[in-house]
Amino acid sequence: MCGIVGAIAQRDVAEILLEGLRRLEYRGYDSAGLAVVSEPGQLQRLRRLGKVQALADAMIGPLAGGTGIAHTRWATHGEPSERNAHPHVSADSLAVVHNGIIENHQELKTALEQDGYRFSSDTDTEVIAHMVHKARQTGLSLFAAVRATAKQLRGAYGTVVLDSEEPDKLVVARSGSPLVIGLGIGENFIASDSLALLPVTRQFIYLEEGDVAEITRNTVYIEDARGNPVERPAQESTASYDAGNKGGYRHFMLKEIYDQPQAVRNALESRLAEDHVLDQAFGTQAGDVFARVKHVQIVACGTSYHSAMVARYWLESLAGISCSVEIASEYRYRKPVVLPDSLLVTISQSGETADTLAALRMARHLGYLATLAVCNVGASSLVRESDLAFMTRAGVEIGVASTKAFTTQLVGLAILVLALGQHNDINPLLLTEMVGALKSLPEQLEETLTLAPDIEKLAEEFADKHHTLFLGRGDQYPIAMEGALKLKEISYIHAEAYAAGELKHGPLALIDEDMPIVVIAPNNELLEKLKSNVEEVRARGGILYVFADRDAQFASDETMRVINLPHTHPWMAPVVYTLPLQLLSYYVAIIKGTDVDQPRNLAKSVTVE
Ligand code: AGP
Repeated sequence: MCGIVGAIAQRDVAEILLEGLRRLEYRGYDSAGLAVVSEPGQLQRLRRLGKVQALADAMIGPLAGGTGIAHTRWATHGEPSERNAHPHVSADSLAVVHNGIIENHQELKTALEQDGYRFSSDTDTEVIAHMVHKARQTGLSLFAAVRATAKQLRGAYGTVVLDSEEPDKLVVARSGSPLVIGLGIGENFIASDSLALLPVTRQFIYLEEGDVAEITRNTVYIEDARGNPVERPAQESTASYDAGNKGGYRHFMLKEIYDQPQAVRNALESRLAEDHVLDQAFGTQAGDVFARVKHVQIVACGTSYHSAMVARYWLESLAGISCSVEIASEYRYRKPVVLPDSLLVTISQSGETADTLAALRMARHLGYLATLAVCNVGASSLVRESDLAFMTRAGVEIGVASTKAFTTQLVGLAILVLALGQHNDINPLLLTEMVGALKSLPEQLEETLTLAPDIEKLAEEFADKHHTLFLGRGDQYPIAMEGALKLKEISYIHAEAYAAGELKHGPLALIDEDMPIVVIAPNNELLEKLKSNVEEVRARGGILYVFADRDAQFASDETMRVINLPHTHPWMAPVVYTLPLQLLSYYVAIIKGTDVDQPRNLAKSVTVE
């Protein structure tokens, strides 16, 4: 999705803006642009279709100017093109960058056109530039003009406005799209993600919904949604400056796949005792809430939804608590019936996914006992707006394809299941066994990663295929879905997942030698059933690729390639069996030459509906 960076300093800011944009590239975008004020009244703007590097290459000599804004655009209104790239300007003096969608832009545009404003793009954003300009013409200060404009906007926005006539300030407004102010010494910054500003500061103020702020080199003035001046506390970021580096790996995705043993260690740290899990991992009030929970509703999107589906199996089987799972974009538009004593759990890597956030906000009025976020970003809207939170501690995830965020979500959800089980008479021996299984996960993940060369070879057999089926049963069905999603998003091969027992109800008709079938076969209570499903495929000439436990007794032959995984506790198999599927997608994408970290048409954090 779109990214915003802004800076106001005594030094030239163009390089800071470009570096900020580079650090936001992972979010996915199609064009980039920036504007700086070189001297009062002199606005310089540069935009390019394509990568941030194309923008940097277009800068012939450094752009002078201490106040500037920059943007990476992911098209919503209007095709990806230079004319639609941000910043958008009004009267060649006022520039705007914007994340989100202005839903009433058409009616606002019609009114502005009647006032004589001419539009030079197809974007919804351009109305903001002209509206602020129009308000300025009535004598309002830049701050007042932005506040008056914000009141008329419907939809979601994070916007930054720069007026070359008042070059000593930036004015920003937040409603639905995150914005963070970075505090420097004699210089200040703004961005849609603190990661963009780590090279220049570690002190951040996170704006709240409805905030409008004026930022100068030495001051930050914020008014809340009601127009009252407010102080928002500054927080120190502990994210590593190098979080945006590949650490010697060819792609962020590969680095993040290999980060997983350590990420899981971090997710487990200080959350487990010898024979139980600590409620406090979810917040100080968690114990009181968990003692009352009778039902859990989980809401999430994409990969995070797949982790929710695994959690449903675990919750009902291990903790004896009923659980429903739903995609956020569906849930938010239903009128769900909330059972008494229900806990709402949202799952999100970014904590800014528009549908998940909207579902949380909608659900707050439905009578849930409490809301709990499982999330990787502590300062995200989802965490801040939930009663309880589990931080997955995966570290910054840059690759669009989610990897370590997923496995650490699974760890968090496993701890949640056990925490709820502790309040619901879980067998103490089972609880101790599960705690032990969680503790042994990092080593098992390390061992699984040693299979990479075998999986790389296997990938060669997929690269010329157009379709693939992934099969799993029980808690491996969501892992099959996750494997199919990974393959789709980075290799562009169509992939579907089926609960293996469903094959005979339709998909068997698809089986032939051109449709590779990936099977996930840990040694669990459904193994024998799964073997029957594998035979159904073999009998129809299908070629199978089986990821199996060493003891599962699958043998490679001309119609079946078997990759043996280390022994793992059956309940932890969803975490372990995810890794070979991530590696398979990665190596297929490498052979196909796709853009692994920024696959076409996708964004890391989907902050629009
Ligand atoms: C994962 O590979 C995807 N890129 C995507 O499905 C992602 O999981 C989804 O957009 C939800 O994001 P979130 O976890 O940040 O809410």
